[in-house]
Amino acid sequence: MGSCAAMAAGFGLLLFLAVTTPFCFGANVTYDHRALVIDGKRRVLVSGSIHYPRSTPEMWPDLIQKSKDGGLDVIETYVFWNLHEPVRGQYDFEGRKDLVKFVKLVKEAGLLVHLRIGPYVCAEWNYGGFPLWLHFIPGIVLRTDNEPFKAEMKRFTAKIVDMMKQENLYASQGGPIILSQIENEYGNIDSAYGSSAKTYINWAAAMATSLDTGVPWVMCQQSDAPNPIINTCNGFYCDQFTPNSNNKPKMWTENWSGWFSSFGDPLPYRPVEDLAFSVARFYQLGGTFQNYYMYHGGTNFGRSTGGPFIATSYDYDAPIDEYGLLRQPKWGHLKDVHKAIKLCEEAMVATDPKTTSLGSNLEATVYKTGSGQCAAFLANVGTQSDATVKFNGNSYNLPAWSVSILPDCKNVVLNTAKINSVSTITKFVHQPSKDDTTATDAFGSGWSWINEPIGISSDSAFTKPGLLEQINTTADQSDYLWYSLSIEMKGDEPFLEDGSQTVLHVNSLGHVLYAFINGKLAGSGKGGSSNSKVSIDVPISLQPGKNKIDLLSLTVGLANYGAFFDTRGAGITGPVQLKSSKNGSTIDLSSQQWTYQIGLKGEELGLASGTSSLWTTEPTLPKNQPLVWYKTTFDAPSGSSPVALDFTGLGKGQAWINGQSIGRYWPTNIAGNSGCTDSCNYRGSYSASKCLKNCGKPSQQLYHVPRSWLKPSGNILVLFEEMGGNPTQLSFATRETQSICSRISENHPLPVDMWTSDDETRKTAGPTLSLACPLANQVISKIRFASFGTPRGTCGSFSHSRCSSKMARSIVEKACIGSRSCSIGVSVNTFGDPCAGITKSLAVEASCT
Ligand code: GAL
Repeated sequence: MGSCAAMAAGFGLLLFLAVTTPFCFGANVTYDHRALVIDGKRRVLVSGSIHYPRSTPEMWPDLIQKSKDGGLDVIETYVFWNLHEPVRGQYDFEGRKDLVKFVKLVKEAGLLVHLRIGPYVCAEWNYGGFPLWLHFIPGIVLRTDNEPFKAEMKRFTAKIVDMMKQENLYASQGGPIILSQIENEYGNIDSAYGSSAKTYINWAAAMATSLDTGVPWVMCQQSDAPNPIINTCNGFYCDQFTPNSNNKPKMWTENWSGWFSSFGDPLPYRPVEDLAFSVARFYQLGGTFQNYYMYHGGTNFGRSTGGPFIATSYDYDAPIDEYGLLRQPKWGHLKDVHKAIKLCEEAMVATDPKTTSLGSNLEATVYKTGSGQCAAFLANVGTQSDATVKFNGNSYNLPAWSVSILPDCKNVVLNTAKINSVSTITKFVHQPSKDDTTATDAFGSGWSWINEPIGISSDSAFTKPGLLEQINTTADQSDYLWYSLSIEMKGDEPFLEDGSQTVLHVNSLGHVLYAFINGKLAGSGKGGSSNSKVSIDVPISLQPGKNKIDLLSLTVGLANYGAFFDTRGAGITGPVQLKSSKNGSTIDLSSQQWTYQIGLKGEELGLASGTSSLWTTEPTLPKNQPLVWYKTTFDAPSGSSPVALDFTGLGKGQAWINGQSIGRYWPTNIAGNSGCTDSCNYRGSYSASKCLKNCGKPSQQLYHVPRSWLKPSGNILVLFEEMGGNPTQLSFATRETQSICSRISENHPLPVDMWTSDDETRKTAGPTLSLACPLANQVISKIRFASFGTPRGTCGSFSHSRCSSKMARSIVEKACIGSRSCSIGVSVNTFGDPCAGITKSLAVEASCT
């Protein structure tokens, strides 16, 4: 059956394997009030979210390995219903949708899986993961006690469970899945569904349980989750959470490692000191399972973003960045936190925590077993002042908003505010690009193009009186819906009188609108993440006789969150009016006979693949004109670093590489000017708007092009540009590490790997600065900065102060140049004492080649 335990028994190695490969089992997973219990043993587990369709199968092994190296035990993923069942009854599990392959790769790496089936998932994913066809089932109401909905939800959930069972992927079968989730944060919004909410949640619990997976189910943010479902917590902090029964463990399914970004908004980031603090606080106060949402966020390829207005990048400021590189020091510091917590695991699972106050905002928690094991967490939850506390007769310095971890109740292995990990500065290196004057080889064979017709061009267009809601009309088959009208002007209307200006007024529920008058773009408007509605008043000139009004309305991802999010509308619902600016008279066009076209001609023709015979280079390449399809061929940027396309010069649209959609691009959507901070104070409660960057800049300029989608040469790039742009300014960039750095003070704890409770060994060891190049084939080639004393600045902008050892650079060069990694004791014994009586630090910045 593929069960490791069974195999091991066969080889008579059961005992040996049980000790060295803790996750190789035909395991029995249960729980009690302290923890998940795997094969009779309570476990302290660290988990991270990686959503398989947000990267490529070629990236999965590396992402999973980096997760394992970062100290994760569990990979969590949602299952995306609308990806797998785009048409009712037609399933798709190919390529990026290969869930079974993903789960198997996690297993091969020796990690566990938490499978959050939902099947409502939120996740900034289009329509929260629901297929749109659900909405059209007669009598259906989503996420409540409604028979048509429940039948579909049960069918899909059972389908996924059956698939997993057939592949022996549940822990009970020897597989990696130890946990599953049903529904998602329904408790946050269930009051809107009245008394049916309770019936629905009880039904969902019973339905899930009846599928007999052999592993526990959870519901997140559902305080009334019925037995045996474990209710879990989501948020930036969950240390104060308690489950709804004394028999359930304290679990945290979403610790938001950063936050998502939206077109038009600045970029959120979450300082690692605060994230580490939240993690340590959770395990301090009795938690035993915590999941980073996200550990790798990745990319919203195609039209998969929810929202509306969720950006194509789903980087999330996660420990592994969108491109699959380690985000340092976030990844490294959390790795140290995980090791520190694991050093406490035995005491933690053996007993309940006992917390006492050590003063205002100061708390000590002790896990002490009858057999003499002891682990302690000391916390300063104050946001202003560092403190010195007395604990068991010793004194400890506790920076504000930090936790110290003491695996032996005496020595500190880690403080969440003191980072021992290396930092890296990454950058995008532009490849030669082609513009009007300089020909380079980035886009070798130049550009060809096709104009998208303005207005109705398809045989499937239809006419209806009045204005139609967009999502009900397109069923989300396309972002685009044309609303077209022809009006006769006799010539004596007030609008056409001399000197009078006509204004076209359009109200739309969103998300973006372009208005064409007689084939010319007259105006446009867009909504934003906080209000998707669009209202435009554009001056237009009409002529006597026939006038064409063509309104192109677009969605930018369908809503994914909130009560009844599935019924939130989009598109031009009116009024549409012509107003005379002179005498105020109005003609309302809302209830005219409008002609509708779902989608673009180019979509119907399949231009995205680049294979059509309609592409032309004649007469000249159109620039800054709306609604143009562009195509070119190019060679892959050399090397193996991750690749991005820089959309400078373009407006808004979608892009395909060799037929695969890299998502919506929108570099002209600029983040507002307020709310950003250069350096964010990690002390104090974090919120999604606390730490923002990138104000006044495009929300997203660079778009991930997975390496595996590229051939060495002859790649096809197709763009559909809506607003007008110049494709020749497009360029490639590769994501590289610019330098690595670290700053360690004399009162940092020893590196977590050097931890020992032996007093003699501790006397000779001390704080240590360690550097390591990110890639195995790299060595440290240059020390860009080194100072021992009181250096100023942060990684990338260090500078010397007056207190600075003369020997620092040569000592660091000697220890590091030519090696992939190096370690240096941070002490006056190594560097001499440039300023006695002051706490000193060693700061180093180095390059790797
Ligand atoms: C949670 C939700 C996740 C995700 C997250 C924000 O409320 O459960 O799916 O949407 O918020 O990134």
